[in-house]
Amino acid sequence: MSAVNYKKLATTEQLVPIRPKPVEIWDVERIRKDFPVLSQTVHGSPLVYLDNAASSQVPQMVIERGTQYIKHEHSNIHRGVHYLSMKATNAYEGAREKVKRFMNARDVKECIFVRGATEGINLVMHGYGRKFISAGDEIIISAMEHHANIVPWQMLCEEKNAKLRVIPMNDAGELLLDEYDALLNEKTKFVAITHVSNALGTVNPVKQMIESAHKYGVPVLIDGAQWAPHASIDVQDLDCDFYVLSGHKMFAPTGSGVVYGKEQLLEKMNPFQGGGDMIKSVTFEKTTYADLPNKFEAGTPAIASQIGLGAAIDYLHIIGRERAAAYEHDLLVYATERLSAIEGVRIIGTAREKLGVLSFIIDDIHPHDIGTILDQQGIAVRAGHHCAQPVMKRFNVPATARASFAFYNTKQEVDALVEAIEKVIEVFG
Ligand SMILES: Cc1ncc(COP(=O)(O)O)c(C=O)c1O
Repeated sequence: MSAVNYKKLATTEQLVPIRPKPVEIWDVERIRKDFPVLSQTVHGSPLVYLDNAASSQVPQMVIERGTQYIKHEHSNIHRGVHYLSMKATNAYEGAREKVKRFMNARDVKECIFVRGATEGINLVMHGYGRKFISAGDEIIISAMEHHANIVPWQMLCEEKNAKLRVIPMNDAGELLLDEYDALLNEKTKFVAITHVSNALGTVNPVKQMIESAHKYGVPVLIDGAQWAPHASIDVQDLDCDFYVLSGHKMFAPTGSGVVYGKEQLLEKMNPFQGGGDMIKSVTFEKTTYADLPNKFEAGTPAIASQIGLGAAIDYLHIIGRERAAAYEHDLLVYATERLSAIEGVRIIGTAREKLGVLSFIIDDIHPHDIGTILDQQGIAVRAGHHCAQPVMKRFNVPATARASFAFYNTKQEVDALVEAIEKVIEVFG
């Protein structure tokens, strides 16, 4: 793979071709060089970063784009007539154009910048839910949601006296689609489901689920926080009504994220927050709201972070999403085989379709102890309930250890994880 001219890309908001030239081999060592954080040692061992589902790492190209903004373009957007403000506005709106292409939205108006998936879901709950959900209505979520896609809907149900219905799952961690179909009825007014489970790695058949909901005229929100780092998104093909993602899980800085919404729904919704930049005119008698997408972006946004998200999208186009996904798939299969072969290790989440995540427990050893001992060997995994307490309850475990992968991880790192797990078992003998 030839070297990427970061400097050139970082100084323009040009759009990088979506389909790069195919390259046969995934040169992981070359890719790793793009991520400065990966080359350090932790507690005397090379860092093995397997906590990508919590936050992925940031490539040099994104770091440089952010630095350039701060050094040479930092200014407030939309309101200024001066040079820097116009430059910052162009960069920020350029990032929105990149997001539009990345998600295949029809228009930039449909791409609202938010701080992350949590804020995105809350925006939809406030803007759509509080306006259109009433007493006796039903909202369907699934048994494998992150708290970010449970709590806002629960709050709404409490406020409106509506009912939360939950699609159950089987022991592999797959949603029971017959049960979903049975839950849908004329009282259903909203469906919110995750594309990929952060605790189990299950990929849900969201296209089919959206189609089922649409038969009842019900809008569907897809929580794409764990899908977006791994595979292409096509909101038009999915025909979802809302799709949310977090930048910090897809190689961009924290504080960046997107809510996609169909234009006709966003138009009908109430604004999320009130303030500057989301208005057309303000008098003490009445305020009229700005056109999309500004109606949903009150106040000064996370300008540097969203420009960084645009650069991360460029980076993904450059390295090639399909190739990255194929490599990650092989890595997950390899890791699953190796961990399954360790006596005492039980994998939680064995769905046929999985992405990025390997949750596991070890007989009688608390996941926090696993996480701590792995950390001593330089291996970063997550231990806990992964903001998915109902999933832990369903599998009757207090917590799991979770290794989660990105395209810069290697089979050698999986081997290091296996060796370290064997050490944990030895220590707790
Ligand atoms: C599936 C899923 N949804 C939502 C979130 C919340 O994302 P954020 O904390 O970036 O808002 C996460 C974070 O782990 C997640 O995995």
